[in-house]
Amino acid sequence: MSSESVDEMVVEAIAAFCSASDLESLKVARLTHFGDRSEISLANREIGALPPAAKAEVGKRIGEAKARVKEALESREAELTQIRDNEVLLSEKVDVSVPVDRLKRGARHPLTTLMERLCDVFIAMGYEIAEGPELELEWANFDALNFPKDHPARLMQDTFFVESPDSGVVLRTHTSPIQVRAMLERELPIYVVAPGRVFRTDELDATHTPVFHQIEGLAVDKGLSMADLRGTLNHLAHVMFGPQIDIRWRPSFFPFTEPSAEVDLKCFVCLGDSSAVGCRACGGEGWIEWGGCGMVNPKVLRAVGIDPDVYSGFAFGMGIERTLMFRSGVSDMRDMVEGDIRFTGAFGLEA
Ligand code: PHE
Repeated sequence: MSSESVDEMVVEAIAAFCSASDLESLKVARLTHFGDRSEISLANREIGALPPAAKAEVGKRIGEAKARVKEALESREAELTQIRDNEVLLSEKVDVSVPVDRLKRGARHPLTTLMERLCDVFIAMGYEIAEGPELELEWANFDALNFPKDHPARLMQDTFFVESPDSGVVLRTHTSPIQVRAMLERELPIYVVAPGRVFRTDELDATHTPVFHQIEGLAVDKGLSMADLRGTLNHLAHVMFGPQIDIRWRPSFFPFTEPSAEVDLKCFVCLGDSSAVGCRACGGEGWIEWGGCGMVNPKVLRAVGIDPDVYSGFAFGMGIERTLMFRSGVSDMRDMVEGDIRFTGAFGLEA
């Protein structure tokens, strides 16, 4: 066993270890060059058969060779283990800053949040919230509000009658029957607002929907006048849309208020400037219809047992959809009813 041939074995083994590119191939190289049947192991085993004189020298040579091979094997193993660990670290890396697919949070419908905002304005003024049924007595929806039996307004309202027109029950066409219920149920003075869903037989299009929402207001107290009504609605407009958005009145008619007025909002785009012909928001009108109002008709007060010589009242009713269109620039009412969550989501951050 010449020192050259031992060196050769060592060089071969080290070369094989170095060229092993991963732990798997290093294992193969180890079995070949350092395993039980490797040349170096066989040489080691043969030492016993050598003459005693040669034993010590060859034994030392092979022992040293084995130590070198072992060292080379261990250092390559350490290198490849390090490389493998780095690869594992990289491949199993988790980037905690990557946004995950969270479940989308739902958003409340903007009509709901808007109704709550409107109510809040009145609650701050000391009003209470009143309610009434959507399936309403024809008496409360029309008769008690001074609509004569054959009054064209009943048709004008395009009412959904239930079962037959003589059932005495309708889907309420406005929130005004809640005025009647509030006056029957509550102690005087009365300051209430009533948001709610109302129904008319309109086709669904960009500016009509058969189911829509109103907010009704009613105040009955001693000494209330049109000036109180005006101040209340102006305050509402300013809080909801900003101090530059005033209201204006146009004379109108409702059987349950006298006198009556239509309420318009100053257009938020052209601010009522009549020279702004063709303003996209108001069509050059300068004003946008918002609702109806007036002093409670003494006949209505009498119908619910309130003395109109002692008490007076004012009432108003606004369309919520119109308010949302005005406030948020929604141009098509169908977006509000179709239930597409992308529409609702756009308002999602509103509390
Ligand atoms: N109820 C009326 C409508 O739906 C609006 C209104 C309410 C008018 C209160 C006057 C007073 O058109």
